[in-house]
Amino acid sequence: MKKLVVANWKMNPLSLKEAEKIFALVLKRLPRLKNVQVVVCPPSIYIEELREIGRKVSLGAQNVFWEETGPYTGEISAQMLYDFGARFTIVGHSERRALGETDADINKKIKSAVNASLTPILCVGETIRDDKHEYFDFVKNQIITSLGGLPKRIISDLIIAYEPVWAISTTSGQKDATAQDSFEMITFIKKVLSDKFGLRGEMPRFLYGGSVSERNVDEFLSFGGADGVLIGKASLDPDRFSAIVKIVSDRK
Ligand code: PGA
Repeated sequence: MKKLVVANWKMNPLSLKEAEKIFALVLKRLPRLKNVQVVVCPPSIYIEELREIGRKVSLGAQNVFWEETGPYTGEISAQMLYDFGARFTIVGHSERRALGETDADINKKIKSAVNASLTPILCVGETIRDDKHEYFDFVKNQIITSLGGLPKRIISDLIIAYEPVWAISTTSGQKDATAQDSFEMITFIKKVLSDKFGLRGEMPRFLYGGSVSERNVDEFLSFGGADGVLIGKASLDPDRFSAIVKIVSDRK
């Protein structure tokens, strides 16, 4: 199975012109992709134009609405994103959860994405780590509610990103998550999927996200139990992003 590198540009950059420039540079700097698939998730209004620049990487959205069409001012449906050229969508990112998105909303979003042939990248992760290890239950509840009612074969085709919120976009001096933290949580999530949803062999693909860099990406893939990474800040810098992809692509 190919490794996966997903770029989350968040609400950047400020103009389409700048987005095209970054995307074109990313395509230019990327190595020949051997064992890796790359997905770039820009603000959705840029997706269609970026698709015209090159098809070496796939495009994804950062959010999706659960209804197909109708009186939902300001929302964008999965079908619309697919029509624009998106093939993936992030769902349940912690920055959306901070704006009020619930696991029940996320559940509907996953279903609508799948119906429109978009692969959901479901983000889960605790905001803090407590001494009693209650963060495991926190993530378990996120998983159980957001995947409720989904058949096994759909769950095994998902991508689940473990993003400990306390480790997102950290600056020096703050605590970063370790590969061990990632390994423990991904192993735990697999157990939840097996106990609660009856999954056995066919597990979804797992990403680690939270301050991924050239420095730590290899460690997360080697020891973090992850099949890939979700990258925020470093993905907006074409040099850094392509360096990370090259490290992943060159791994044996
Ligand atoms: P970061 O963002 O790489 O800047 O920590 C990751 C994310 O929020 O998806």
